[in-house]
Amino acid sequence: MSRIELKHIDKYYGNNHVLRDINLVIEDGDFMTLLGPSGCGKTTTLRVVSGLEKPQNGVMTIDGEEMINADLAYYAEPSKRGLNLVFQSYALWPHMTVRENIAFGLKIQKLPKEEIASRVQEALRMMRIEEYIDRYPNELSGGQQQRVAIARAVASNPKLLLLDEPLSNLDARLRVDMRSELQRIHKELGTTIIYVTHDQVEAMTMSTKIALFKAGELSQVAAPMELYMNPIDLEAADFIGNPRINFLEGKAIYEGGKLRVRCELDSYVFDSSDMTDEEVPSGEFDCVVAIRPEQIHIFEEPGEGRIPVQVYANQPAGSETLVSLRTGNSDFLSKQIGLAQYALDQTVYVSIAPEKVNVYNAATTRLIKRAR
Ligand SMILES: Nc1ncnc2c1ncn2[C@@H]1O[C@H](COP(=O)(O)OP(=O)(O)OP(=O)(O)O)[C@@H](O)[C@H]1O
Ligand SMILES: [Mg+2]
Repeated sequence: MSRIELKHIDKYYGNNHVLRDINLVIEDGDFMTLLGPSGCGKTTTLRVVSGLEKPQNGVMTIDGEEMINADLAYYAEPSKRGLNLVFQSYALWPHMTVRENIAFGLKIQKLPKEEIASRVQEALRMMRIEEYIDRYPNELSGGQQQRVAIARAVASNPKLLLLDEPLSNLDARLRVDMRSELQRIHKELGTTIIYVTHDQVEAMTMSTKIALFKAGELSQVAAPMELYMNPIDLEAADFIGNPRINFLEGKAIYEGGKLRVRCELDSYVFDSSDMTDEEVPSGEFDCVVAIRPEQIHIFEEPGEGRIPVQVYANQPAGSETLVSLRTGNSDFLSKQIGLAQYALDQTVYVSIAPEKVNVYNAATTRLIKRAR
């Protein structure tokens, strides 16, 4: 296990500033996922941690020991950092069988033969690829090779495991299985894991913490549920969640310790205890009300607190139904569990729990009212 701290890390490729003042603490035993769109700097961050890239500024420590100090031009050798890296491209040794690929690092560590054999078996079992033990990499599919690469990393029992999109070549079903396996590996080995993905479902389901990147910067570091419930700005809210969160334009005013908000769908009065630390303008200001599709409940009958809206379209998908709704000029989506069928243009009644609603300052795009 190990604790990693990144302080003020900057990385340039020529004039391209690809990591901007990255500050991140990965606690002992964390499953930290670096999440963000393509090109935002996730792989570069892993390469900096592993020692394959030298940042121009900043400090990195592992268990308190400096591995990078850019001011002193000090960069510890990758082999001195006690970590193991699995790349997006899995780079198995082509002239070695699966067994030899996995055993190679263990032989270098001079482990006893029986220990090596049992570690190889165990790693193959975890990744469900025991039957390929005597095959060469070119006799395996991309997904199988990817699992061998993970098995190889796991077998060496690293105190820090770095994984760069290790499930990218797997089909949807195997990916779900492997998410469970990685979760178990994390728990059983107690290894600190840094995991890179652009797939938010992967990030949400496995991580203890998520570091959300945008264009070389860290926008938010939080536990998965906190990130889902309270994205820090509109961009983060838009990125997290599928189907996307609904945004409704509105007006807000903060006075007498209350935030009063109205949008075409509804109006709300929130307590100051639900507010974030963001400063809010005095007087009326533009805001964005954000509501997750699953928080919009549809009823066919009117009732207390229910708001009449029109059905624009239905998208039944078996286990769930997405219903497009409209009121005035605002369109929004509701997600219902199971099969629901409404007539197009039918009037239905929606109810939304105010505590589940987020409010953003439209000018700064920052979260001002939290959901709980
Ligand atoms: N060796 C390099 N030389 C120059 N620019 C690079 C190099 N490696 C990466 N970059 C640039 O740095 C930025 C961050 O790249 P990085 O590979 O970290 O992105 P990523 O978040 O891992 O994306 P993806 O999800 O597509 O893998 C990109 O703009 C990329 O073009
Ligand atoms: Mg990458």
